[in-house]
Amino acid sequence: MAEIDHRQIDPRLEESEERYRAVIENASDMIQSVRPDGTFEFVNKAWLSTLGYAPEEVANLIVWDVIHPDEYDHCGPYFERAVQGEPIGYMQTTFVTRDKRSIPVEGNVTSRFLGDKVVATHGFFRDVTERNRAQELEARNVQLEREHQARYLEKMAALGKLSAGLAHELNNPAAAIQRASAGLGESLTQRDAAVRLLAEADPGDIGWRELAALLQEIDTSNRGDDAHDPLETSNREMAVEEWLDDHDVEDGWRLAPALVGAGVDDARLERLSDCIPTQSLGTALGWITETLAIHEAVDIIVRSSRRISELVASVKGYSYMDRATAQVVDIHEGVDSTLIILGHRLRDVKVTKDFQRDLPMVQVFGNTLNQVWTNILDNAIDATDGTGTISIRTRRDEDAIVVEIEDNGHGIPPEDLACIFEPFFTTKPQGAGTGLGLDTAWRIVSEEHGGTIVAESEPGRTTFRVSIPIESGAGSSTGVEGDT
Ligand SMILES: Nc1ncnc2c1ncn2[C@@H]1O[C@H](COP(=O)(O)OP(=O)(O)OP(=O)(O)O)[C@@H](O)[C@H]1O
Ligand SMILES: [Mg+2]
Repeated sequence: MAEIDHRQIDPRLEESEERYRAVIENASDMIQSVRPDGTFEFVNKAWLSTLGYAPEEVANLIVWDVIHPDEYDHCGPYFERAVQGEPIGYMQTTFVTRDKRSIPVEGNVTSRFLGDKVVATHGFFRDVTERNRAQELEARNVQLEREHQARYLEKMAALGKLSAGLAHELNNPAAAIQRASAGLGESLTQRDAAVRLLAEADPGDIGWRELAALLQEIDTSNRGDDAHDPLETSNREMAVEEWLDDHDVEDGWRLAPALVGAGVDDARLERLSDCIPTQSLGTALGWITETLAIHEAVDIIVRSSRRISELVASVKGYSYMDRATAQVVDIHEGVDSTLIILGHRLRDVKVTKDFQRDLPMVQVFGNTLNQVWTNILDNAIDATDGTGTISIRTRRDEDAIVVEIEDNGHGIPPEDLACIFEPFFTTKPQGAGTGLGLDTAWRIVSEEHGGTIVAESEPGRTTFRVSIPIESGAGSSTGVEGDT
């Protein structure tokens, strides 16, 4: 124990004092006895070794030399109270070591009296650096675990949304193919029957040629172009139906819409009737309409299967997302794939694209950028209640490619604008948003690609601007293939 006061000790108390001295000296807590004027009466070994002072230096210190200056205001009242004789059951503060390191401590203080006068305050303190560090670490781990869990859930939710959307999107063409192929079988049977009847009726060379010519015309005319005025269509159908009735063609009401749909009007029928015997007219027209139905079914099957292939290609392009490989891509392809994948949510949204298709390719990390487009578009769709306008623009800005996604939704209030990229910030009802969409986008853009992502907003106009360096160095040191 550092002796500071060499008072004369009563010999009768010496043994008892020795005992207490040994206890105090070997205690692991820092123990200090401080006089009311702030000087030290004694300190123990733990105190000296923790604060880095030699025993002889203590005589020149006052208590405020070992308390961090930031803590003076906090400790002053405690010291006053202790000097008044009030015990301090628990306190926390920060000591400073001889080499100016801060040490967080906790402890308690009691007072020693001589008569009714306080002669010293006794403080017992513990260094809580390690404990604080462990607590901080634990809190950080809990936070990390929570973020990890939430990101995982966000990914699963995104996957869920994606597959639900895709299932929906694939269902339409698949159902169309099914319907068309069912109708195809029936039309083939009926056309075979019509061919037999027609062959029996024998429309003659001129008749066959005229029928072939009509089919040819129909094939090259705008079949399926149903942009006609419905009133006009209805008038034409009536005229055709009347014509058919006048020429004793059965089922005129059934044939008329198909013929008008194929661009055949009563004038054209009149010309046909010049080359076909009247009694074969019904059979010939039946043959024509069944042929048309077959063409139409085949057309639906071709278009629907093309749509399915397109969707599958988009998924392939899109779902590359977690692959940690650097690749050189055309940003527009990613945006287009994402738009197809989000097709089910964009049904009532007007999307305008102003793409500079000749921009250089960029080197990116996996296809994670598609997640960026998805998250921004997802928010834009939400902000416009799925019925607004979203404009997507691309351009070059020096050594970066800029993609701007603007929506005409409700906008982001200025007080929220500063927080939107923070993890878990959401203004959506519980269950509707986790608040990780933009945090994920920010990480992908800035951490993985060295780019920037910023938002501007006013009611009716919100723009997210993503800038990706052309040579982002994402995942590789092999350089970019340059302008292609
Ligand atoms: N285009 C936008 N228009 C209006 N507000 C937006 C827009 N984009 C983002 N926000 C605001 O930013 C918040 C954070 O967006 P973020 O995508 O990070 O999370 P979220 O959409 O709420 O949830 P999550 O994307 O995880 O499902 C949103 O809750 C919304 O308030
Ligand atoms: Mg979102």
